Amino acid sequence: MANGKVISMINMKGGVGKTTLCVGIGEYLANYLDKKILFIDVDPQFNTTQTLMDYFDLEDEYMSNFRHNKSIRKLFKSASTISEKPVLPSPDEVILKFDDYPNIDLICGNIDLIFDDNQGDSARTRRIKKFITEHNLRNEYDFIFIDCPPTISFYTDAALNASDYYLVPNRIDRYSILGIKLLKQVIDRLSYNEDLDIKPLGIVYTMVGHKRNKSEILKETFESTDIVKEIALFSSCTTYVNDLMVGFQGNISSNYKKSREDIERVSLEFLERIERG
Ligand SMILES: Nc1ncnc2c1ncn2[C@@H]1O[C@H](COP(=O)(O)OP(=O)(O)O)[C@@H](O)[C@H]1O
Ligand SMILES: [Mg+2]
Repeated sequence: MANGKVISMINMKGGVGKTTLCVGIGEYLANYLDKKILFIDVDPQFNTTQTLMDYFDLEDEYMSNFRHNKSIRKLFKSASTISEKPVLPSPDEVILKFDDYPNIDLICGNIDLIFDDNQGDSARTRRIKKFITEHNLRNEYDFIFIDCPPTISFYTDAALNASDYYLVPNRIDRYSILGIKLLKQVIDRLSYNEDLDIKPLGIVYTMVGHKRNKSEILKETFESTDIVKEIALFSSCTTYVNDLMVGFQGNISSNYKKSREDIERVSLEFLERIERG
């Protein structure tokens, strides 16, 4: 294995199913298709981290230990003096491994990211990229999934700078077009300022069938925009499965029959699209 791919799960809109799809595809590929996955949680809301801590029953460990000693924050830490070269942490210092799940690793998110001042330090928006390349993580993992915040931010830039592809989970509503337009602007700006090497993998409709998402007119309008045509739609999607909201098996798609079928189809299409490049 030497050709792992880095994928940002991104949409400039919250509540569209980014985290659920990120964990859903990653967990499916890891546990059903034996792929080695690293999740990187750069969203200060750290829902990917919460989902996995819940899954591994490590919530207390997270609160008392990981969030202080092993989180994404370490990766962005600045040098303490002006002449000092910023030092990248070693993989062991930030990557969390789980005893019974050798195929799933995680760089924990941390709510305190919002207190870190990252303005005006564009070098640090290349820190995730450097971390991945300098430690040869593409040899270690088949896929690195970055769960992004739904905002224009330093962390979004850092994620996109590090990624080979971006995948856009999207739920049809009145604001879907806005979310995707903003995303396009972010990517265009970064491509202009940096040597960005990122391709769209596609848009995945999420929570299809829920009464809030049923407007055919909104869907048609969305699909007729140039950006959507350019990014292109997945033919598979995820349907609305109530258990993902409230079920006792947590927010893991493969844990419920209906959402397992969805995530299987989406994951296979994901692999096909990666193959095609
Ligand atoms: N297919 C689905 N069916 C039902 N609920 C879903 C589905 N996908 C996501 N959800 C729920 O919708 C909410 C928002 O999803 P989430 O993945 O956290 O979105 P985002 O990361 O974009 O903010 C969560 O409560 C999640 O459990
Ligand atoms: Mg999220």
